[in-house]
Amino acid sequence: MRYFDAWLLSGLVLLCSATCHAQSIQPNTRWVNQRGSILTITSIGADGQIGGSFVNHAKKFACKDDAYPINGWTDGQKISFSVRWKIVGHDCNSITAWVGYMTGAQITTEWTLVYVADSSHAPAILRESDIFKSQ
Ligand code: BTN
Repeated sequence: MRYFDAWLLSGLVLLCSATCHAQSIQPNTRWVNQRGSILTITSIGADGQIGGSFVNHAKKFACKDDAYPINGWTDGQKISFSVRWKIVGHDCNSITAWVGYMTGAQITTEWTLVYVADSSHAPAILRESDIFKSQ
């Protein structure tokens, strides 16, 4: 290998070690989505299990402004977490599950909300997306 080729290769290796490495979601991080809701990840176990809280600030939804526990998983940049919208004194009779991935300072997700609109009918399902930015 000529000197220039070796120099170029080591430059590329250095650049890639700074930018090409797989990113992983970290504990003690706060994320805000486009609806103003706040996801706080407080713990990530050795097995990737995550804990934290979610404060819903989305318009047209209930169970707002209180912290609800989250349960979920990470594996590198991939994440899933869910919220049961039930705490002492407040029950929205619904559950949301998000699945997505982190790129840089953003987590892109799709979510599914199962809720009871009318107790004489089967629960309903709503699917949309949320984008969280690191705060
Ligand atoms: C409910 O209204 O049944 C409970 C609150 C649901 C809030 C949803 S969860 C998905 C979407 N993203 C948010 O930040 N809030 C809404």
